[in-house]
Amino acid sequence: MPGMRVLGFESSCDETGVAFYDTDRGLLGHAVHSQVEMHEAYGGVVPELASRDHIRRLVPLLLRVLAEAGASMDDVDAIAYTAGPGLAGALLVGASFAAALALARGIPALPVHHLEGHLLSPLLGRDPPAFPFVALLVSGGHTQLMRVTAVGAYELLGESLDDAAGEAFDKTAKLLGLGYPGGPALARLAESGTPGRFKLPRPMLHSGDLDFSFSGLKTAVLTAVRAGPLDDAGRADLAAEFQEAVTEVLVTKSLAAVSSCGMQRLVVAGGVGANRRLRERLDLAAAKVGVRVYYPELELCTDNGAMIAFCGAQRLLAGAATSENGAFAVRPRWPLQEFLSAG
Ligand code: KG4
Ligand code: ZN
Repeated sequence: MPGMRVLGFESSCDETGVAFYDTDRGLLGHAVHSQVEMHEAYGGVVPELASRDHIRRLVPLLLRVLAEAGASMDDVDAIAYTAGPGLAGALLVGASFAAALALARGIPALPVHHLEGHLLSPLLGRDPPAFPFVALLVSGGHTQLMRVTAVGAYELLGESLDDAAGEAFDKTAKLLGLGYPGGPALARLAESGTPGRFKLPRPMLHSGDLDFSFSGLKTAVLTAVRAGPLDDAGRADLAAEFQEAVTEVLVTKSLAAVSSCGMQRLVVAGGVGANRRLRERLDLAAAKVGVRVYYPELELCTDNGAMIAFCGAQRLLAGAATSENGAFAVRPRWPLQEFLSAG
């Protein structure tokens, strides 16, 4: 099949991402605008503001990406957009823009599942993993272990029964008085703390399955905060212990998943995959058992257009359905089961 060049648009939450991917030459351009500063004052993402900002950012980002790639719209063969899951209004901005642009250019548009984008993002790296592998997907809304045998062939091995790891980071950050976005702030605070001074549980560490539970951890942190008062050093120690508890469970279960599948490769994707301590512990533990760990480039861990363009391109190569008549759909709650059987 001849090479295909695909534009990707991501607008599911608080980042506007645009990218241009060529199946022969790789990623030719990508740009992300983070809305963090805008939402900061409110302590979290304000959906209406997010939608309005995506509208403002899409065209300038597209022009920047095309310029970076030395390309024009004439060079674009197809357009991929995040169709879900995410904030309805925010998704609609990217989806309607992508579908309208595709209609105007007479090229196909195709919807991409945000989590599949994350899942495949390590394949965009300089040294991509070969199939099959186990993927640990750790984003703000999902914590899942999957067996990945090909693009579109994903089997769920285990997942969080309550809060996702990223959500636990965000909620715990709030309990410790840290602002939005909580995960990176908590990770920064943890760097200056010492784990072990506080004792937090390692939920479901020995449950014998590959599921997770993180909501109890947040409650344990709340109890410690209430028992306070905590000075700055105390907060840092609590943050460090929390990070240690989450990463220990993630590392142990991920390697158990790799071993149960008889595989040697583990892929980590999603925002929490940017966590330095998680990477450190995972690399150490994996090396001991001969497992190789693959991460997306750091800038592709959190939301971006590159993973959407890449995933769209892979789907097109696999013969996915597209629309060319301006029709589009968003799925704010795109069910996991459909995603898994989408291949
Ligand atoms: O994948 P992502 O950008 O968006 C979703 O699809 O959810 O993940 C965002 C999540 C947030 O919960 C954020 O707090 C967390 O990833 N996160 C981190 C770090 N960077 C982002 N959590 C822990 N340590 C980090 N360094
Ligand atoms: Zn995401």
